[in-house]
Amino acid sequence: MEKIIIDCDPGIDDSLAIMLALSSPEVEVIGITIVAGNSPSELGFMNAKRVLKFLGRLDIPVYVGADRPRVRNYVNALDTHGEDGLGESFLPEVPDQAIPKESAVEFMKKSLRGGDVSVIALGPLTNLAELIDSDIDSFLSIKRLVSMGGNFRSHGNCSPVAEYNYWEDPDSAKVVFDAMYEAGREIEMVGLDVTRKIVLTPENLDDMKRENPVVGDFVERITKFYFKFHWEWEHIRGCVINDPLAVAQFIKPTILSGIEAFTEVDTLGISMGQTVVDSMGFYRKHSNALVYTTVDEKAFWDLFLPRILGIKGERNE
Ligand code: BDR
Ligand code: CA
Repeated sequence: MEKIIIDCDPGIDDSLAIMLALSSPEVEVIGITIVAGNSPSELGFMNAKRVLKFLGRLDIPVYVGADRPRVRNYVNALDTHGEDGLGESFLPEVPDQAIPKESAVEFMKKSLRGGDVSVIALGPLTNLAELIDSDIDSFLSIKRLVSMGGNFRSHGNCSPVAEYNYWEDPDSAKVVFDAMYEAGREIEMVGLDVTRKIVLTPENLDDMKRENPVVGDFVERITKFYFKFHWEWEHIRGCVINDPLAVAQFIKPTILSGIEAFTEVDTLGISMGQTVVDSMGFYRKHSNALVYTTVDEKAFWDLFLPRILGIKGERNE
């Protein structure tokens, strides 16, 4: 069983990713760390607790990290994820859940030193950049670093060229990619090239509700708003669920394939947040990223659906 920390900003698709991880016997989630992204970090904390309550897994510790990007002003994504950050599902607050004194970065520092823990980052990379500032050795002890973010040949979702997680905090993304370069390591970049192909459709939802009404209703409740958003913006029937693909690839590394390339994140101007992937080797620099470019969609759904549908789930009012 591989130990993982999920660093996230729940977030509708972050929640689906947490559900997948916690229904997968290959991984042990030793903690969830929250970063400001889709939702402000305190709301992200409560949303993680809401999902854990549904899963009957409030035993999993949740730590709060950065409440704003490294340099830029914070811009939340509640226009995409709803005013509660969970698709306006307005699930009840989970009582008696105080934010721990230990911060996300302190928890990571302590947990990563042994070299046997991986990180799946599903939000802006602010917490990881702070970890690099305070304890580079712990950062470099991360076993596998899988990040949902960036894009190579696919267009952006926040600007013509940038994906949200890296656009939100391009400076931290740059610090992380640069640190991987210096160390001769590779970050696994699960970007929009592959996540865009993962669309949860109304038909999927109907099937889910038929197979497991408790889980189907929960997923419908948190994705309804996302469906509306995707229809209005992209004329897609359904919604792109980015984050679970990073978890799926961690569990089953044959779902995605890609290229190894030196990759840099731009921090300023009209291409802020863009991942510049040197696929042709112009810079003659060694690779710091495994950039995923193709996805076996069927393999994803074959993993995701049965696991999600196997969840017992606690009914929420
Ligand atoms: C990413 O941004 C967020 O809206 C999602 O949760 C995902 O992590 C996609 O660009
Ligand atoms: Ca996310």
